[in-house]
Amino acid sequence: MKRIVELISEEVKTAFNKCRYDESLGAVSISNRPDLCQYQCNGAMAGAKLYHKAPIQIAGEVAGLLKDNKVIDTIEAVNPGFLNINIRRDWLAQYLSDMTACQDGKLGIEVPVRQTVIVDYGGANVAKPLHVGHLRSAVIGESIKRISRYMGHETIGDVHLGDWGLQMGLVITELKERKPELPYFDEDYEGDYPDEAPFTISELEEIYPTASGKSKEDEDYKKRAMEATAKLQNGVRGYRALWKHIINVSVADLRRNYDSLDVHFDLWKGESDVHDIIPGMVKYLKDGGYTRVSDGALVVDVKEETDTKEMPPCMILKSDGASLYNTTDLATIMDRVKTYDPDRIVYLTDKRQNLYFEQVFRCARKTHLIDEDKELIHIGFGTVNGKDGKPFKTRDGGVMRLEYLISDINERMYKRITENREIDEAEAKEISRIVGLAAIKYGDLSNQASKDYIFDVDKFTSSEGNTGPYILYTIVRIKSILDKYAQAGGTVPETEGVRLKFNVPDSASEADLMLCLTGFAETIEGAYKEAAPHRICAYIYSLANAFNSFYHEVRILAEEDAEKKEGYIALLALTKKVLSDCIDMLGFGAPDRM
Ligand code: ARG
Repeated sequence: MKRIVELISEEVKTAFNKCRYDESLGAVSISNRPDLCQYQCNGAMAGAKLYHKAPIQIAGEVAGLLKDNKVIDTIEAVNPGFLNINIRRDWLAQYLSDMTACQDGKLGIEVPVRQTVIVDYGGANVAKPLHVGHLRSAVIGESIKRISRYMGHETIGDVHLGDWGLQMGLVITELKERKPELPYFDEDYEGDYPDEAPFTISELEEIYPTASGKSKEDEDYKKRAMEATAKLQNGVRGYRALWKHIINVSVADLRRNYDSLDVHFDLWKGESDVHDIIPGMVKYLKDGGYTRVSDGALVVDVKEETDTKEMPPCMILKSDGASLYNTTDLATIMDRVKTYDPDRIVYLTDKRQNLYFEQVFRCARKTHLIDEDKELIHIGFGTVNGKDGKPFKTRDGGVMRLEYLISDINERMYKRITENREIDEAEAKEISRIVGLAAIKYGDLSNQASKDYIFDVDKFTSSEGNTGPYILYTIVRIKSILDKYAQAGGTVPETEGVRLKFNVPDSASEADLMLCLTGFAETIEGAYKEAAPHRICAYIYSLANAFNSFYHEVRILAEEDAEKKEGYIALLALTKKVLSDCIDMLGFGAPDRM
């Protein structure tokens, strides 16, 4: 479905053409002065130079031809030569009807070609607890995945666990220290290993930090951890069996955590999954002449002449022959290309990995592991800070775990929800959970990903301002009006694939709301293109504001003219659908009441 700006542009271009000016001058955009008009065209300014005429004269000629137009209501040439445009209200109502009539229920979103998209997010490290830093990868990635899916693309979410590095060797070393009698460490053991893991999740979570601490102080311990890592990677039977236990225990816990965030992966793959294809890849890189040896290490140069910043080579193998994070990422690209042939891969990590991903992407392209026309996108996000502007910590200064953070928010929500009223406890708990999740996710997603943000519980849980709860209140308000309408015998219409009839708006607030709704498809397409959920937040915030102004100004259910009332209901139903679809793309839902 064509965008409103396109349709207006067509009219204005025709007018430029009729006046014998280049028609490209007629491009229209959304007004940057909404107080003056809805749309604007600045073509007369550019035309003035081409045709040696005063811009206002050109603008005046064009405006003269558009006085009686099916799309444009008013068009005015203003000094020094702008065209200020407002659209016809009957045409606006028609446009909304066309949106709801779209058979796929996607309100005019257009997907020219269906792509295959992989979203690599979450990225938890096995045996380490999830903390606030992992929140962003999970939250932003989940949203990017859902946006892509909504657009109609074949979309695969992969958690890409860190399950192969030194942290595994550290955990194994510490276990050996504590329980040397376990069969996993007995090299002569030939029997089956136990099904039960020799540790619980809480032990596991304590083991890693202990081991990591020791390795920093004790050179010999570190050496043993590195040896254990190598043994694991080389396939020593007992180490592999122990490693499987670590993965299983840790993944069960991770699943629980991600579930509570309503974050769901299609693939639970990790760095270890590409271990076996690394030798083949290394051979390919060597045979292709892409590599060179530097200080004993195997590297690929990725520097380009235009670089203004330092661009170190991409290291493929360390001097001792061990593979690295780079190696697994390159092999993962190779594997993904072979298995899924993706058109786009989006990675979500903290922005400290910006340079790293640039190296990996350049290396993958230079060595033709992936074709030039495929997109590799890294979204490097900023840090979550506390109100003091420092990385978010618990009250006693420890690393804030995701679970605690979620329960903190839910408690705060619970207090707000039960304040000054009677409500069933179970219901209040459930509402707190739903709204709490929205508060966390919206608080994160409403910021541009690359920026740091302050985790401000008071602000995030507030029902006023640019927050998740505010959006949910708006949706609940609409639901309740529609419910009342239905209880009084009215029929609330479907909004997907049906041509709804809207009123020709007779108030500014109704027209504003309608105009805002027409921006849906463009917003989602933009959010997909730029992998930027914050664009959806900005959109629904203005949509919620537009709806609330309309709600405060117009008496909806008290309207006596039945046809008009039906038009209002259609408008409410569409607003609800747009808001609900948007929050679903952001990764949360709305309760029935609040
Ligand atoms: N486990 C990594 C970390 O904690 C994140 C993984 C991101 N994905 C990737 N393909 N490198 O930093």
